[in-house]
Amino acid sequence: MRLSTILQHRFLVSIFAFLFFAQYTFAGVFEGGDATKGETLFKQNCASCHSVDGSLLAAPSLQGIDSRWAGKDALIVKWIQNPNGALATGDPYIVGMVAKWKGQFGMMAAQAVSEGDIKDIIAYVKTGGSAGGPKASDAPKCLTLEEIEAAKAELEGDDSGYVWFIIIGLILSIIAVSAANIKKSLATAVNERDGLPAPADRTYMQVAKAWMWTNKKFVGVLGFIIFCYISVVGYKSLMGIGVYQGYTPDQPIWFSHAIHACQNEIDCQYCHSSAAKSKHAGIPSVNVCMNCHKGIKKGAISGTKEISKIYEAIGFDADSSKYIDGYAQKPIAWNKVHNLPDHVYFSHQQHVTVGQIDCKQCHGPVQMYSVGHVATPAEINAQEDVTGLIKLEKETLTMGWCLECHNKAGIDPTKSDYYEEMHKRYKSNEVGKRTLSEIMEDGSMTVRENGGWECGKCHY
Ligand code: HEC
Ligand code: HEC
Ligand code: HEC
Ligand code: HEC
Ligand code: HEC
Ligand code: HEC
Repeated sequence: MRLSTILQHRFLVSIFAFLFFAQYTFAGVFEGGDATKGETLFKQNCASCHSVDGSLLAAPSLQGIDSRWAGKDALIVKWIQNPNGALATGDPYIVGMVAKWKGQFGMMAAQAVSEGDIKDIIAYVKTGGSAGGPKASDAPKCLTLEEIEAAKAELEGDDSGYVWFIIIGLILSIIAVSAANIKKSLATAVNERDGLPAPADRTYMQVAKAWMWTNKKFVGVLGFIIFCYISVVGYKSLMGIGVYQGYTPDQPIWFSHAIHACQNEIDCQYCHSSAAKSKHAGIPSVNVCMNCHKGIKKGAISGTKEISKIYEAIGFDADSSKYIDGYAQKPIAWNKVHNLPDHVYFSHQQHVTVGQIDCKQCHGPVQMYSVGHVATPAEINAQEDVTGLIKLEKETLTMGWCLECHNKAGIDPTKSDYYEEMHKRYKSNEVGKRTLSEIMEDGSMTVRENGGWECGKCHY
């Protein structure tokens, strides 16, 4: 081979080598990158499985991936876009990593993100979760496990208190009845000894009457206490009619928003995904729970007791981590907390997507709830982490509440094409009796001014 050809080859080889290494060194995904953009991308695509702070969700935490994958820029991109393809390269780190986690969490799914996106996500992961948005220390604090456990105990305590009430009542009446019987046998025995006829058979009612007559004061006080108790309970339940505040129905599984939405920062719409695009926000199906609980088999508070109810519904064997073939699945029968009467029309999409209203504006600090309930106006108004919170006085879920907000909430035409269209029509005086300038006199258009107080908008 002539020297020139060799040189030519060498030249080509070095170009190839340059390009080859450039892929790893120059186009690195571990440097640069926009952490703020990365945060959004991470929350949209990865946060349902991965955390960035070392805690386990439904996959290993991404904390420290920059050192675990150091020098493998192209490979990590490949892994995220096509995990099976990356595994097939036989890279020892990937093979070991998958072997470690696959049994617990299954295989990672391919993600529709670009290389640039991945660079931003990694920049965010490296901040440990403190990029852009509020810093961890500014974020509202979550309830501690102890507080959640106490709330759970209180919920269960209600029931057991009631049960004890019945048990004690039963024991007392058994004692009373047997005491009466003993007294009667004694009286019979005494009369027999004295050669008198047995005492007349008295009914329990007669005995009770005689006893009450001799213990007037005690009976009076007891009667008064029972009367007060019944009045308070009766008053409470009467006041509850039509207003559901504080209503906490029993649920088939003890589900805590405080654990899921706050401690583990799972987005509301990960579970209530239809809120943005339909009338109902919906309660997640068992399959959604299984996205994570295939791997998470034990809770810090309830151990396996509550989570095993998920497995029972769907037919999953926790020991072998396998679904049971031919299992007759049964949906989890959650009890609805919020309930409008049938004659009212309410759409989540209208409020969440078009109106851009935060869930917490209507449902309160759900991320602090250990059990679901309808938020009170006081709870809602006290929230500091809801931007543009409208303070309302009327009881939540009543007609007055809907109307009060429609009278206060402004419509921002920049938020949606829908409003822009409305504004155009107002400008050309196509709708209504008032001109746009009249409506906008106070600088804004409220939902009411747009027809939000018309009976037909909310009533079928
Ligand atoms: C459906 C759940 C799921 C989603 C969503 C997901 N992953 Fe994963 N990921 C996994 C699992 C599970 C593993 C562990 C390996 C395995 O078992 O496949 C993993 C492993 C990883 C690893 C290797 C971790 C290590 O310790 O080396 C990286 C990096 C990674 N994922 C990045 C991402 C990124 C970035 C996104 C979002 C664009 C994402 N993943 C979305 C489930 C997921
Ligand atoms: C991990 C899944 C999950 C996440 C995340 C989640 N929820 Fe829920 N949500 C549920 C389940 C399950 C129920 C039914 C049990 C109950 O009522 O507590 C529920 C019930 C509710 C209810 C009461 C529904 C009714 O019966 O009327 C509201 C309101 C609600 N969630 C709002 C939210 C908001 C707001 C967020 C975000 C801060 C959120 N949820 C996050 C699973 C979730
Ligand atoms: C995105 C992941 C994810 C989803 C979806 C999810 N969970 Fe969880 N769940 C978790 C995590 C994380 C924990 C905390 C585990 C621990 O205590 O260490 C948990 C804990 C629990 C616990 C135990 C709480 C305790 O401390 O005892 C129960 C019960 C539970 N979840 C029920 C559900 C139900 C029911 C659903 C479906 C409506 C659901 N989860 C959906 C991630 C999830
Ligand atoms: C404008 C007030 C408002 C906003 C904003 C709102 N909700 Fe609701 N939500 C309601 C009302 C009212 C009901 C009762 C609906 C019914 O009974 O038909 C309800 C019911 C629910 C339910 C029970 C199931 C259902 O679909 O009826 C869930 C879960 C829920 N909301 C979650 C959410 C989540 C998550 C968000 C944010 C993405 C949200 N809501 C935003 C007012 C609101
Ligand atoms: C926190 C404020 C708030 C509360 C509470 C609220 N709404 Fe609304 N509502 C809005 C906003 C903002 C819009 C404007 C969005 C739009 O025009 O589509 C709207 C629009 C509507 C519309 C469409 C009106 C139109 O002109 O097309 C209906 C119907 C409606 N709401 C029903 C209800 C009902 C029923 C309730 C009570 C159960 C309720 N809303 C409670 C803020 C609220
Ligand atoms: C923004 C939505 C909205 C508008 C507009 C509205 N309503 Fe209602 N209305 C409701 C809701 C929600 C309830 C159910 C309240 C409850 O269950 O406590 C209700 C209940 C009622 C009831 C049943 C009685 C009651 O208080 O529960 C009547 C009657 C009624 N509305 C008549 C009207 C009339 C007449 C108009 C027009 C002047 C009107 N509504 C406009 C939301 C609305």
